[in-house]
This record gives sequence, structure tokens and C-alpha cells, in this order.
Amino acid sequence: MMNPMNPVSQKLSNDFLSESSIDICNDNFNMKQYLRFKVNANDREYNDDPFYVCDIDDIVKKHWMFQNLLPQIKPFYAIKCNPDPVVIALLAHLEVNFDCASKCEIKAVLDLGVDPDRIMFANPCKQASYIKYANEKNVKKMTFDNEAELFKIKEHFPGAELVIRIKVDDSKSTYKLGRKFGASLKSTQKLLQIAKNLDLNVIGVSFHVGTGCYDASLFYSAVKSAAAVFNQGENLGYNFTLLDIGGGFPGVKNGKISMDNIAAQLNLSIAEFFPPEMNLSIIAEPGKYFVESAFTLCCNVTSVRKVVDDKKTEFMYYLNDGVYNSFLCVLFSEKFKPLPLNESKTHLLFKSSVWGPTCDSCDCISEETYLPKLSIGDWLYFENMGAYATCLATKFNGFNPPIVYYACTDSIYKDLSNDKANLMKCRSFKDFFVPLTLEPIVKV
Ligand SMILES: Cc1ncc(COP(=O)(O)O)c(C=O)c1O
Repeated sequence: MMNPMNPVSQKLSNDFLSESSIDICNDNFNMKQYLRFKVNANDREYNDDPFYVCDIDDIVKKHWMFQNLLPQIKPFYAIKCNPDPVVIALLAHLEVNFDCASKCEIKAVLDLGVDPDRIMFANPCKQASYIKYANEKNVKKMTFDNEAELFKIKEHFPGAELVIRIKVDDSKSTYKLGRKFGASLKSTQKLLQIAKNLDLNVIGVSFHVGTGCYDASLFYSAVKSAAAVFNQGENLGYNFTLLDIGGGFPGVKNGKISMDNIAAQLNLSIAEFFPPEMNLSIIAEPGKYFVESAFTLCCNVTSVRKVVDDKKTEFMYYLNDGVYNSFLCVLFSEKFKPLPLNESKTHLLFKSSVWGPTCDSCDCISEETYLPKLSIGDWLYFENMGAYATCLATKFNGFNPPIVYYACTDSIYKDLSNDKANLMKCRSFKDFFVPLTLEPIVKV
């Protein structure tokens, strides 16, 4: 039987998840200790290979927080942010729905036994064969933001349930999406008229305030704009039933704005522009929110260069993960903070730069940081690595993305596995909890 003081490895039996296992740890789980334990795990090809740890509890708690702060809004997880199969299975189990951008993402969700009704095909510019695929699989809900898309949908999926994506103010977001997507408010009336003429079923409005939004009032003004488009639809004889507020929610606790700030703006604007008597279905497409803080990356120092001149000594550290794998966001000025895994014997810090493993000189994770003196074989870890990291990894120079370990505390494990009603809803996650191997591994 499982000893709750020890983590146990639990193999996932479903084919899709067969490579994955979850360690169930005691309730005073500590990430740093767990990383140290995993450094010595013998299931990587080489024991200096980099690896991720996914904290399952963090995702479950984010889900609870979303439910508490925005009980009237149904989240559709944006898989593009991190298509990790265990994360998808966990969220499916928690009855979170999915925002998919492509056939491959739709397939990953359907393969888990998720009902097609729980998917929003939220890519306003889709290739024709993917629209046909959505039709075959009965994935009806999809977004559009231009005229040509309407004709394509008419041809390949005339029975689709369409959501018009509008352009909203994204000026206070790190990654703006409005330069590529969204119908301007000047064009929505005409677009809806074309949809009506084509006898297409438009069911609602969507927007995205941009990823890494740092001003919660953007949500208020976006909801207000959506209400104006609802009126246009009504004037054309449509009866919209869905409002999709997109993503843009913070993935870390200590960011510029909190989830509470956004919830306050959303609750205010929804009460004002979409009161309960409208009986709407309100959905969101959070990506970063669910996964950013759940993933920690641990990398090995594979080479060290000491740079000495008359006045100073600096160090260059070369790691086995870099810009072409988990750190592509460096190219968009995102900052990453390397943390040494082991305590240093002294408190001395040296000016250092941190580099990835490829032969490209752009492959720099941090130009300037202060670190204790490190040696080859030491480990550095990076927190908050769950969003737009592994999914952007390339195989440049032959470096594969790191493997992922999963950890869950005993109490969250029990919480999830006791939830019998939920277990029935997702075939694969039921398998996930079938205890197959329960040997204690190590005390953490
Ligand atoms: C249509 C759509 N929905 C949701 C998301 C997820 O956004 P975020 O990670 O900011 O929550 C994105 C991100 O690009 C997106 O394009």
C-alpha cells in the first residue's frame, strides 16, 4: 500500500500517456528538494540531461481559484500554451474545456474521450482541410474575423457555430494579438451581414486582450465593445448566446496585475453589459494562467568559461537548454532568472552570463546576472517555465526538449481520485488514477 510519507511512482496506463508517470509526494512537498531528488533519477538518457517538473497541485489550485473568482465563466484551456498530455488529461478531468488552434490539438483532446462540444476551434484563419476535419468530428464552435473565412466555412462546414473575433485594445499587453487578428469595430456590421446572407449561424463574440496583460481595465473595455457587437447581431436578427473573453490572465502570483484585479473588472463589466437575465454562456481561453507557475526547469552546467581582464573576473556558463528549446521568449525580451540548486559555500556572487547549448551566439539566456561560482555538473533551475516554452522548442543543433516529471501531493491525489463523478467523465484520466505501480521511491 502507498505510504503517504513517501512519493510513489504511478504509471499512466493509457497509450497516449504511457510514457508518463506521476510521483505522489507527502503534503509538505518542497520543489527544491524534489529537484535535487530528480537530478539523480536514472530514467533520463543521460543523468546530466535537463528536465522539467510539473507541479500538479499548482494547476488544480489555479482551477479552484478560477472557479471561485469567476464562477459564471467556463474556462477553455488554450492548448497552444503547453500541450503537455498529462496537463490536458488533468484539465479534462477537472471539466475544463479546450481552445484548439489546429487539427493536431483537436485530435489530442478528442483522443482523450472529450466531447467535441467542449472544444472551441479558436483560430480565426484556418486551413480548409482543418475545417472539414472539424465538421467530420462535430467540433462546431469556431471563430472567424474576415470575409474570406466565412466563404470557406460556408463551403466546408455550413452548420458550424460561429463566433466573431473582434479587435480590442491590447496596448497594455506584452504580446499583442490585434496586429494579426480581430475584426475592427468598423467592419463587424458588414461581416455579420455577409454571414447572415450566407445563412451562417453566428452564436457570439470573442476577443483577446493580449498575452501578459498588465492593465485589468482592458477587460472592461473589451467586454463593452463585445456588447456593441451583440447589438449589431441582434439588429440583423441573430440571437447571440456566447461571449468568449479569450486569454491574457496572469500565470504567476507576483505579476503586475493579479487575477483578483481582472476578476473585479470582468464581474463589473459583465454585470453592466451582460446581465444574468440574458442567460449567456460566458467562456474564457486561459493559457498561461493554468500552466506558467506549475513548471520548473532544471538545467545542467555543461561548460564554464572564466573571463579575466585587468579589472574584473566574469563567468560564462553554458547550459544544456537554451533559446532554441525552452527559452525562445528571450527573443521577445522576456527575462529569465537562473537559480542555483545547491547552496554555495560562500556568499560571493560574480557577474555572469548564461548561455544555451547550440553553436549560435544568439543562444543567450541571460546576458547579465549574478551567481555564485559554479562548476561543470552543477544545476541551475528556472521557475515559472510552463507557458510558451516546450511548445516552441526546436531541434536546432540536435538538442531535444527536456523530459517532464510530474509531482502531486497525497492530499490533492486523494481529492482527485475520490471525485468519482468527475472520473466518469474522462476515460483517460480515470486510467491515470488506476494504481499500477506503487513502490516508494524516496522520502521527500
Ligand atoms: C485565440 C487565443 N486564445 C487564447 C490564448 C491564450 O492566451 P494566454 O496564454 O494569454 O492566456 C491565445 C494565445 O495566443 C490565443 O491566440
